[in-house]
Amino acid sequence: MDSSVPVIAVDGPSGTGKGTIAAHIAQTLGFHLLDSGALYRILGIAVLKSGTDLNDGPAVAELASSLDIAFSPTEPGVVLLNGEDVSVQIRTDEGSDMASRVGAIPEARQALMQRQLDFRKSPGLVADGRDMGTVVFPDALLKIYLTASPEERARRRYKQLIDKGIGAILPALLQDLKERDARDSERKISPLIPASDAIVLDTTELSEEQVTERVMKLVHTALN
Ligand code: DC
Repeated sequence: MDSSVPVIAVDGPSGTGKGTIAAHIAQTLGFHLLDSGALYRILGIAVLKSGTDLNDGPAVAELASSLDIAFSPTEPGVVLLNGEDVSVQIRTDEGSDMASRVGAIPEARQALMQRQLDFRKSPGLVADGRDMGTVVFPDALLKIYLTASPEERARRRYKQLIDKGIGAILPALLQDLKERDARDSERKISPLIPASDAIVLDTTELSEEQVTERVMKLVHTALN
């Protein structure tokens, strides 16, 4: 890891468009991209597959350290776990739920730390997650914290699923999202909170284009 390599941290709860905006910044700047949520999702699925006890922190950490994880350099969003394509599985509701559960285990967070730091390579990194600006890259050049009301985030998720032809029930999505928010925000280690030096952007009333425009302005100001 080279601490002179610039990092742009994009944190916030799910459904704020973090992933899309982080990928856009990385592509525009030619920077590397870390989707840290994907690491927690993969670990969650690995816990399920191996039958590891979620209450056994050291066992989950050992599993995290032993995982063979590969992100496809050519196909965005494609991830392999021990050679198996788990890209679809990690995005299921079960994948989201398990990610949030393993994310609350201190030993698991510690075990995933070095993997995240290793993404910091020249010419720069855009890191998307919950604790990028607070814990993993506290020296990030720019810290953006995206937020939106739970109702709006659930509505966006609902639309995504319906557009994909997947049935969904809005009140159930909202309930799940609130539970995950509570677990992510109330955990003792690396809770979901904006860094004190983060720029907080509430996207509830903004279109994707408006968010992109505002974020890219912040990025260019920070880099110049
Ligand atoms: O960003 P995402 O929705 O893919 O993240 C899924 C879950 O993973 C999220 O509910 C909490 C956990 N997570 C975390 O604890 N820390 C991160 N840096 C990223 C994700």
